[in-house]
Amino acid sequence: MGHIIQFTGLSGAGKTTLSNSLLDWGNKHNLKIKLIDGDVYRQTLCKDLGFSKADRLENISRLGAFAWSVSKDYDFIFIAAINPYQEGRDKLKLRYGALLIWLKCDLNTLIRRDTKGLYRKAMLPDTHADKIHNLTGLNDTFDHAENANLILDTNTLSPVETVALTTRFLLNLKPH
Ligand code: ADX
Repeated sequence: MGHIIQFTGLSGAGKTTLSNSLLDWGNKHNLKIKLIDGDVYRQTLCKDLGFSKADRLENISRLGAFAWSVSKDYDFIFIAAINPYQEGRDKLKLRYGALLIWLKCDLNTLIRRDTKGLYRKAMLPDTHADKIHNLTGLNDTFDHAENANLILDTNTLSPVETVALTTRFLLNLKPH
């Protein structure tokens, strides 16, 4: 039975970058890893969902159930979604023993980087047609995850350091 690891963090905090590095690490060390990326599953399993609180909770709930259904075939299953509500994270912990990693990054840094242009859109005037009204961290909720099993401050850590801390954490986990 593999370990289910749920990430949490704002858009642009580094969830996908870290996940891709972990896939490479897994390949090198002969570990079986499944990546369940929110952006990808919103095109398929979660295609009908939007960004209301109920839909975001449903999103993480489905990703958790899917992770559980494949967990016997992998060493680690990563769920890389914004996962903004403590309620949703707690449910995955309770149901599946999913551990939690918070990729913590200042909003100002994310606004400066804005790789997808989402923060710019969220800051447009209310009347603008392209305005995003519920972007997590800017004009929608993100519950801080102080109780996370691992907190990675991606403001100050380099991508290499972020991966190193994560792999050390993973290797220290007891087998199920
Ligand atoms: S979650 O909140 O339900 O966990 P998830 O990780 O699946 O979110 O999807 C987030 C992705 O949807 C972001 O990477 C971004 O590309 C896109 N997105 C579109 N609108 C929003 C929004 N209002 N808030 C957050 N992400 C959004």
